[in-house]
Amino acid sequence: MLTEAGRDEAAARWRGTPAERDGGAPPSDSAEVIRLFGAKGDDNSPTLRRNVARPTVTFADVGGLEHVKQQIRRKIIAPFEKPGLFNAFRKRSGGGVLMYGPPGCGKTMLARATAGEAKAHFIPVAITDILDKYFGESERKLAEAFADARRQRPSILFFDEIEALASRRRSSGDVGASLVSTFLTEMDGFSADGDGILVIGATNTPWVVDSAFRRPGRFDRVLFVPPPDQTARLAILSLCLAQRPLAAGLNLQRFAATTAGFSGADLAHLVDTAVELAIEDSADIDTLTPVSRRHLEAALQEVRPTTSEWLATARNYAKFANESGLYDDVLAFIDKHMK
Ligand SMILES: Nc1ncnc2c1ncn2[C@@H]1O[C@H](COP(=O)(O)OP(=O)(O)OP(=O)(O)O)[C@@H](O)[C@H]1O
Ligand SMILES: [Mg+2]
Repeated sequence: MLTEAGRDEAAARWRGTPAERDGGAPPSDSAEVIRLFGAKGDDNSPTLRRNVARPTVTFADVGGLEHVKQQIRRKIIAPFEKPGLFNAFRKRSGGGVLMYGPPGCGKTMLARATAGEAKAHFIPVAITDILDKYFGESERKLAEAFADARRQRPSILFFDEIEALASRRRSSGDVGASLVSTFLTEMDGFSADGDGILVIGATNTPWVVDSAFRRPGRFDRVLFVPPPDQTARLAILSLCLAQRPLAAGLNLQRFAATTAGFSGADLAHLVDTAVELAIEDSADIDTLTPVSRRHLEAALQEVRPTTSEWLATARNYAKFANESGLYDDVLAFIDKHMK
């Protein structure tokens, strides 16, 4: 079993490169908690104002995905932090970023960590929370989220499952045209007054997102968040196991090698399952039994990878509807990893 110090050291090893660790605060869940309270000095106001923490999660907490992190640093954080520099070169710094990829591969985590890296407020908005059956309410809630972002610069406004709003196959049962136009108007407004505000959208189904959402100044940068490769899987497994008692000499590399197709969430599930088995063993013999190869192997029998279905669908869109190279990164990933 690892000693306390050994565990900390093991955890530190997987918290990214030294450069990433420098200035990186310890991970915390506190940023996920959004407190709602009445607007100060305006007790009669029915309006709830979010007080949003700056996430302490950074890229060091996200396993692997080095290429994606580098893209985010260059294309997202740099223009966000230095709008003046970009303006000097007549390069716009505003506009939004659309992250897409299979479920459970770190889009939400990366968005939050981007705020952590940029030391910005993080304002997550679930479209489903915005939707309201009362006329005009959804529009008001949406406008309020944008107002929050303007008030709390630097801020990142994060729209998860953006397809709920941006679907091109909108039918009468879906969100109304006026909500969509409120959203697009708010985003267009940032081209004049968007310093210190970044809008990130995430979706598993980029192919249903209306191209109007990808016009310049809207979600004009698109980022594929792929399933973790072997290096990333090793990093994720290690992150997930960092605080747990581990059997001496446990070779995680071997499990990283045999989990192709697993998403980050699948790997987290795998580790949870192995940990449960270790707890059962410990309870049976009344002695702490650390997580071992046997537990992980047994867990592998239970947990199945979930990314292949998404990749099969994405491959079809990439082959037959690859508008202006939108899915080139998907094709490159499939070429590299699935042959
Ligand atoms: N790269 C990673 N490093 C560490 N943990 C990860 C990573 N990717 C995924 N996970 C784990 O999987 C969980 C789900 O990740 P996340 O919510 O970011 O995925 P997502 O891409 O937003 O999924 P969805 O499309 O379902 O919203 C995380 O809470 C984390 O436990
Ligand atoms: Mg998500």
